[in-house]
Amino acid sequence: MLNQNHQLQLLLDSYQEHLSLPADFYQNLALYETDLDAVFYQSWIYAGHLSQIKEPGQFFTLEFGDESIIVAKAKDNKVRAFANVCRHRGSKVCLEKQGKVSSFVCPYHAWSYELDGRLKSKRAMGPDFEREKYGLKELASSVFHGLIFINLDKDAPDLEQAFSDLSSALSVYDIARTKVAKQQTFHVEANWKLAIENFMECYHCGPAHAEYAISHALQSPKDYEALRPAMLDEAKEVGYHVESVDKSNPSNPDAIQHFYNRSALYPNYVTGSRSGKPVAPLLGDIKEFGGGAADVQFGPVTYAIFYADHIVLYRFLPQSVQGTDMEIIWLVNENAEEDKDYDLEELTWLWTVTTEADKNIILNNQKGVNSKFYEPGPLSEMESFITVFTKWYLSRVQNHLNLIY
Ligand code: FES
Ligand SMILES: [Fe+2]
Repeated sequence: MLNQNHQLQLLLDSYQEHLSLPADFYQNLALYETDLDAVFYQSWIYAGHLSQIKEPGQFFTLEFGDESIIVAKAKDNKVRAFANVCRHRGSKVCLEKQGKVSSFVCPYHAWSYELDGRLKSKRAMGPDFEREKYGLKELASSVFHGLIFINLDKDAPDLEQAFSDLSSALSVYDIARTKVAKQQTFHVEANWKLAIENFMECYHCGPAHAEYAISHALQSPKDYEALRPAMLDEAKEVGYHVESVDKSNPSNPDAIQHFYNRSALYPNYVTGSRSGKPVAPLLGDIKEFGGGAADVQFGPVTYAIFYADHIVLYRFLPQSVQGTDMEIIWLVNENAEEDKDYDLEELTWLWTVTTEADKNIILNNQKGVNSKFYEPGPLSEMESFITVFTKWYLSRVQNHLNLIY
């Protein structure tokens, strides 16, 4: 173990600012396991939207690393998250992605659990069996503007407090009154860091994402700056929050990273769509289109693009050292009806083609990094967010190693 920690320390020390990471960061199994412990098992992660579990008994599951989590609405209407691990001999209890049940029944020996996690029935365990000791293990969960976040760390810091400076920026969208129009998983055979790094920079947007680049000024620093003042004036008029929030905190391992920033869409584009025209009814309190789009970060692995008529949420979940699920969730106004108020294909077109392209880019990146000829290369000034994220990540992992040394 000591030797392993020493190896990991050498790896962390091998990072050079302004260069991409050494290959081992994307390959080393011990580091991957440390990533899970230091980042994924101790961070607030978007689990789902309240509209997915409106009624008691409704649930969904999510999985990352070695963990599976059940999120359910209990009879008292409280949202609860549980480790999806049977207290008998450890089988996964819930095998479905989502559904509605009156209790959770383990498929192995049929122990069953109440919606609040208490053990309900067990078979042939004798008179002295203490049922109350064997409820499902409850995890931290918190609802922020209708978005349900979970945290595997019992001592997780308060989420609402951590994200409080996003509240006024997001209130106009009234996220709690949206619903999931579609959720899709794009699995890529690459380390999670390559997937997030790709999302963090728009250096590749011009060359790789013609569909995105034609509508989003973020693809060009020159256009971003040129269109920004007029966009912010318009945004203010339309009722958006215009001040940016940047809590990326690269040197604070305990920081719950979050971010909000508006950027312009090109003329003739009022939203992220194929035609530039609306793809769904306006969200929340927004009265008219315009004012660009907002990029938002919620913690280390959940990101979003807020348009006037829909929200695109991105969540990155590692499944193996070189396997990552990139999940996209499209949210629309809760009153919008499919085929009447929005066409699902048009709503999801932009970020589907963009993510399909990214999937290939990230896979090719991983393949190149796995070559013995790979060496860290210089980052562009358009990739500065990668450096910010990497520094936070390194501080987090370093902190973790210091604690277990
Ligand atoms: S492992 Fe769940 S009932 Fe036996
Ligand atoms: Fe991309």
